[in-house]
This record gives sequence, structure tokens and C-alpha cells, in this order.
Amino acid sequence: MKIDGVPFRSVWVDEDDGWSIRIFDQTRLPWSLDILRLSDRDTVAHAIRSMQVRGAPLIGAVAAYGLALSLRADSSTDAMERDAALLKETRPTAVNLAWAIDRMLVRLRNTPAADRARVAYEEAGLICDEDVEQNERIGRHGLALIREIAERKQREGGSGRVNLLTHCNAGWIATVDWGTALAPIYMAHDAGLDVHVWVDETRPRNQGAALTAWELGRHGVGHTLLSDNAGGHLMQHGEVDMVIVGTDRVTREGDVANKIGTYLKALAARDNGVPFWVALPSTTIDWDVRDGVKEIPIENRSGEEVTFLTGRAEDGALHRVRIAPDDTDAANPAFDVTPARLVTGLITERGVCDASEDGLLSLFPERR
Ligand code: MRU
Repeated sequence: MKIDGVPFRSVWVDEDDGWSIRIFDQTRLPWSLDILRLSDRDTVAHAIRSMQVRGAPLIGAVAAYGLALSLRADSSTDAMERDAALLKETRPTAVNLAWAIDRMLVRLRNTPAADRARVAYEEAGLICDEDVEQNERIGRHGLALIREIAERKQREGGSGRVNLLTHCNAGWIATVDWGTALAPIYMAHDAGLDVHVWVDETRPRNQGAALTAWELGRHGVGHTLLSDNAGGHLMQHGEVDMVIVGTDRVTREGDVANKIGTYLKALAARDNGVPFWVALPSTTIDWDVRDGVKEIPIENRSGEEVTFLTGRAEDGALHRVRIAPDDTDAANPAFDVTPARLVTGLITERGVCDASEDGLLSLFPERR
């Protein structure tokens, strides 16, 4: 995507030294656009844990480069296995992270130690390029769904405006480029369709308010920020034509883990007959897991993300303020699981399918 006319990806190898990587510090958005240089395993692990980088596909790509950086320092088998395990443990829910590290190891275990760093950069680069291509395809498949709604509304005598609702941030900065849930929206906007996005603020970390609103604004897509609890009300009043979200892990049977609060939106959508779509590259499918509620590990983050808020005060300075009594503890499960029965369908790089084992296998027959 472009920032002030300049094309960017969400992670890239530094052109000056040819080996460190660059990312946007997502903990600083939307207040400032800071580019960070990550030069070793520890800065990469910290960036993932602290959510300077976040979003399922992006943390996979950055972790892959983390392993490349580690191999640059020590390419022995012991160091490689140790650092791969360390990077894999930085966040538990998004399967893309483990997928990327496993893919790197498959290639690197058969590579002589002297060549490992070079091969690791090559493989991490491929992971990035493939992510961009997959998300672009997701965008095209999702665009067809948005177009159908626009055309139906026009046939029914309406304006053709499509109101979408999204939760969290599944845009280009959550992937290497394009995004998953936002890719179809960008393409619909670019194709001249009248799209408007209801953006859930996404407490506690406010990825909707801080990141999705920032992305959509930069791209010129009409959007309105909502408190997390407003979506059901808007659906009851016919203000939402389609919910579209990304995901951190989809099971073989189509259950969907995504940012905490997604499940409640799916329930409200079902109660109001609003289609609930999930956009994902196949790297987000965990073919080894069937029952998402029982089997997907849900990350528990610090309660301080709930009891404190960060924002920019009118004087321009960033402030972190406590919003609960000093002695109140908070729980902070970061993801929830939406059962497949509540999902209208999945949008993948190979097309759309039912959220079910049969649906997924129809697109990915090699997984039978
Ligand atoms: O905790 P986060 O911000 O990494 O959570 C991200 C999400 O839940 C996204 O919706 C998901 O990763 C899809 S990203 C294209």
C-alpha cells in the first residue's frame, strides 16, 4: 500500500545493510509513523510480544526473518532449533507464526550450516511474496461478494452503498500487504463501489480505532468508528450489509479464532440475518485441529491493557491513564472462537467456501 504516494510493505529488508529488517511500530500508530530497525532474534521476539508488529500473517513473516537474523549470528543446528522454538512461543493463537517457523525449518534442516543464513533470507522473502499474492487474491474474491450486495441494493431501488462492519485490524499492516478482511474493501473502493465501513474500536488495545481507522482514512475509504457494543444495535436497524473479519486460526471444520469480541458480532449477525464472512490466507488454517473452542490456545495478555488506556491529549502528548480503581484486577483473553455454524463463509486465496471440513477440502483437496 502507499503512504503519501510511496509504496510500502509492512516488513522489508533494510536496503542499506542488506540484512536487518524494518517494520512500522504499530504501538505508535496512529499518532506517529515510526519505522523500527530489528537486527537480532531478541528485538524480533520483543516486537512480536509487545505487538509492535501484530496480525497473524505479519507475525509469521517477521518471525521468519527473526530466524534468518539468528542464523546470521550462529548457524549451528542447536542455535537454530533453540531460536526457532523461542520465536514460535512469542504469541500462541495465530497459527501463521508456527507455520512460518516450521516452513523455515523444513528448508533449513537440509541446508549446510554455512549456507543457512542466505537460504533463510530467501525463504522469508518467499513467505512475504506469497502472502502478498494470496491477500490480493482474497481481495478479488471478496470484491465479487461486495459487488453482489451493491447490485442487489441497486435493483431494490436503493443507492447501492454497501455498509460493512469489521472488528480489529485485518488490513495491510496486519499482513505483508493488502490485508485479509480489508483487501476486498480496498478493491471495492478502487473499483468505484460506494463502500462504508463501521469500525469496531476493538478494546482493549483499540486496533480498530488506532489502526483500521488509520488505514481506511489513508486510502480514502469512508468509515465510522463505533464503540465495541454498538454493532448489534446497527444490525437490528438494517445498517450493516455484511460483517467481514480476519482470523488468527481456522480449524479443519471451519471454527474461527479472531480478536476478542468477534464471537459476539457473529451472534448478533446471525440473529439479524446479516452475512458474516471471514477472510484468510491458507496459512491461517490449522489442519490438525477440529474443535476450535476446545483446542485453539487463547492468549491471555496483561490485565493492564484493560485497566489503562493510551491516547493523545489535546496538548499533543501521549498519555497512559488508568480507568479503573487502583485495586481492580482485570482479565484479558485476547481472542475468542466463533463456531463454524455462525460463519456464512470463508474467503481464501482459492475462492470462497462454506465454513466446514467439506467446504475447505473442496478448495484444498490435497489436504484430504
Ligand atoms: O492481537 P492482534 O492485533 O495481533 O490480533 C489480530 C487479529 O485478531 C486480526 O483480526 C487477525 O490477525 C487477522 S490479520 C489479517
